[in-house]
Amino acid sequence: MLFLGVLFSVTLFLFFFWLFPLFFHGIPWQPTDMKRVRRMLEMSDLKPGEVLYDLGCGDGRILVCAAREYRAQAVGVELNPWLYLLAILRVFFSGHASRVRVIFGNLHTVPLYEADVVTIFLFSHVNELLQEKFRRELKEGARIVSYVWKLPSWVPAVFDSEYNLYLYVKGK
Ligand SMILES: C[S@@+](CC[C@H](N)C(=O)[O-])C[C@H]1O[C@@H](n2cnc3c(N)ncnc32)[C@H](O)[C@@H]1O
Repeated sequence: MLFLGVLFSVTLFLFFFWLFPLFFHGIPWQPTDMKRVRRMLEMSDLKPGEVLYDLGCGDGRILVCAAREYRAQAVGVELNPWLYLLAILRVFFSGHASRVRVIFGNLHTVPLYEADVVTIFLFSHVNELLQEKFRRELKEGARIVSYVWKLPSWVPAVFDSEYNLYLYVKGK
């Protein structure tokens, strides 16, 4: 009986632990398919040694692809504890952990000064908030690739209608 009680409490806790970030940020995990991930990185013109940030990195697939196929330094930010753990595991087993860092935290508070490329697959209201952060923190020439949602007051340098991807270049 005691065992069942503990099991129930743990299950309940884990359930809410998983949902907790969504109460505040409301963005579910929907992984970008790998074909589109490759197109995102191609559009960003990512070069070896450059620094890529994936804001809301989910299971870390963009990070691993950037490190493996472009030899870039990749940083992911993830608020959902389970996805953070999944990303850590994925990075560990990819064999590219030396070039990838995953931060457990809120993408709105992570500084972006060192980023050459930022990838986002969020929601329009989050993109709207991020515009000011990008203006403040990104260096000139930094590239942003957004899947689905625009940066409402920025003009895209490229729009790929087949993949629904927007490329922005800071200062252009
Ligand atoms: C649509 S998924 C995209 C995942 C990954 N970038 C990809 O393309 O496969 C959005 C991710 O952003 C995360 N997220 C939402 N709000 C966040 C926040 N404020 N800080 C960090 N991560 C956040 C969610 O947990 C989710 O994993």
